[in-house]
Formats: sequence, C-alpha cells, structure tokens
Amino acid sequence: MLEPEFEKLYSEMEQCHVKPLWLAERSVNPSQPQPKTVPWLWKWSQLSNFARRAGELVTLARGGDRRAMGLANPGLGGAPYATNTLWAAVQWLNAREVAPAHRHTAQAIRFMIDGQGAYTTVQGDKIYLERGDFAINPPWHWHDHGSEGDESAVWMDALDVPLNNYLDAPFFEHSAQDVQHVTALIDESVLKYGIGQLRPAWEQPAVRYSPLSVYKWQVTERALNNLARVAASPFDDVALEYTNPHTGRPVMDTMTCWIQMIRPGVHTKAHRQVNSAVYHVVEGRGATIIGGIRFDWEQGDIFVIPSWTYHEHLNESKGERAILFSAQDTPVLVALGKYREEALTTSNGFQTVKETFDVEKALAYG
Ligand SMILES: [Fe+2]
Ligand SMILES: [Fe+2]
Repeated sequence: MLEPEFEKLYSEMEQCHVKPLWLAERSVNPSQPQPKTVPWLWKWSQLSNFARRAGELVTLARGGDRRAMGLANPGLGGAPYATNTLWAAVQWLNAREVAPAHRHTAQAIRFMIDGQGAYTTVQGDKIYLERGDFAINPPWHWHDHGSEGDESAVWMDALDVPLNNYLDAPFFEHSAQDVQHVTALIDESVLKYGIGQLRPAWEQPAVRYSPLSVYKWQVTERALNNLARVAASPFDDVALEYTNPHTGRPVMDTMTCWIQMIRPGVHTKAHRQVNSAVYHVVEGRGATIIGGIRFDWEQGDIFVIPSWTYHEHLNESKGERAILFSAQDTPVLVALGKYREEALTTSNGFQTVKETFDVEKALAYG
C-alpha cells in the first residue's frame, strides 16, 4: 500500500501524462531486445494457392491493381507486416495485365519467383524479369508493372513500410498515366553497369542508389558457384550481398538483400544479430532452426528471423543445393550505431531443438 503522499504524487503525474522511469524501467530499458516479431513460416503451397485464387477473383478494378498479399507476422498484433521493420508480400499478375504507375517514399525491392514476359518499369527504365532476377525500386521512383506473356507472373516484394510509417515519413502518389513512358533502352542499366567492376568512364559513380536496376539470375548464380569454390561463412554458408557496384554499399538505405547457397550436407553454426530478415526459398529444401524451433522449408516458402534470435541453416540433402534469398533491415541498424552480432558459444555452436514448427498446429493454438 502506497503512502498517501506517494499516491497523490503518482496520480497527479498520471493526470498530467508524466511517467516516472523507476516504475517502468524494464519496459523502457530492457536488458536486451524483446522482439514482438515471432519466427514464422508461410508455406508456398498456401501462398501460391491464395495468389492464384486472388488472380481469378480480384480483378484490377476491384483493388487488384497491386495484387500483393502481405505476410502478417502473428506477433505483431494484426499489423500486415512480416517483421517490425519489413513488409513482405507475394504479388501476382495475370497474363497481359498492367499494374498502374505510382510512387512512394517506402523503399522497395522485388525478387522474381516465376513467370515469363513480366516487366517492371522504374522511372522510365523498363526491365523484363525472369525467375531469380532481383530488382530495386528506390524511393519516390515511379513504377508500373505488367505481364506481356501468356502466363501469370509472381514475385516477392519487400518494402520498409513499417519503418517508414513508424517514422511518420510515408508519401504515396498515383500517376495520371497508368503506364510510364519508357525513356531507357530495354535492359540499358544491365548493359551499362552489369559488369560491376567496370563503369562508363565519362560518368560519375552512382552514389545514392545502385545504377543497376536488375541483378540477373545468371550472373548471381555464377557468383554463388564461384564463391562456393573458394570460401564460405560458418554461419551462412555461401552468402552474397547484392551491392551498389559503384560504392559497395547495400542497394537501399533501409534494406539490404542477400542470396545464399546452403550446400548439400551443410549445417551452419548458430548466431544472432540485431536485425530482422525475411527469407524466401528460391530452390531446394532444408531447415532453419530459429530460437530453438526447427522450421523445415522447401521451394517458395517464406520465413522470418526476428532480431537477436539465434538461427542456423541445414541442408540435409545428399546432392541438391538450397538457395535462399533474403531482405534484411541491417543498414538501418548499422547507420544508427545499433548493430550487433554474436555467435552461440554453447554446444559447439548449435542450438538445442525444442520443437519442430507445424503450421497447422501453430494456427490452431493461435
Ligand atoms: Fe509500389
Ligand atoms: Fe545469419
């Protein structure tokens, strides 16, 4: 029971919207990150099923102009965000469809999952996307997408929407024209900048955002195969970061993207970082143990690793490689001086598996 003077002081404070630190110390200054984002996995069998049905039912006129299905992390109280800082979605375009031009201050990337003849035009620069291609969309750049092929197209979007909204920084605008006027040659940025270590000599380096609009799968795969011959990380196996070839920096201010190969038989050691990440399984099957829970994955699945949560990857196949693409918020943490990482030091660097994630069971228990 509080003495009357304390009670009086606290209630007056409360009325005046003043909160004494000594009563809220743990929530104001926790001893380590307490992510609300939970480790989670969305099965491709479900995502592709939803996407196909949305493609049939939700016409462009009925809100389907950006038919993107956001992944809502169950730890985030119903917010349509994959992690506390990243929005991620599967976007579906039917054959011959055009998603109208717009722009936003949220920074965006796309990773092509499937389809032929799909294109994205970013600020007049039209690029065709094939499976495994990675495209960037800097903030406030006009963009529209379309499919000129006879089949549907599907890709993964990742944007810094939650962070952008948290910072009260979002702007969004529709264009008066559905389809932008194309001002660059098709694949111009690939032709000019696609061999990263060589730059047109008369141009200044592109400092702010990568001059390359699309990182083609063929080049990415060759880089993975080359790296696999000489080196690998004990925590991430054969991992590459997509960079601005003129600066070596991440492709966005708020996001960086990785492509990694977990070779057959590899079981990486566990580490954790102050960052959050969304992973998409490009190829193969395997598992990631996140915070002691084993998440088995296969091609197309998308999963999330929250901040400061130990994780390790496994590929138990005898001969098949596994490829993971990921978008991570690391540049934000680094720029603000908040990035940390550490390796697990117990049990030879491997976690103890407490359970195996079963989506049906997880959904049933809410
Ligand atoms: Fe957009
Ligand atoms: Fe990692």
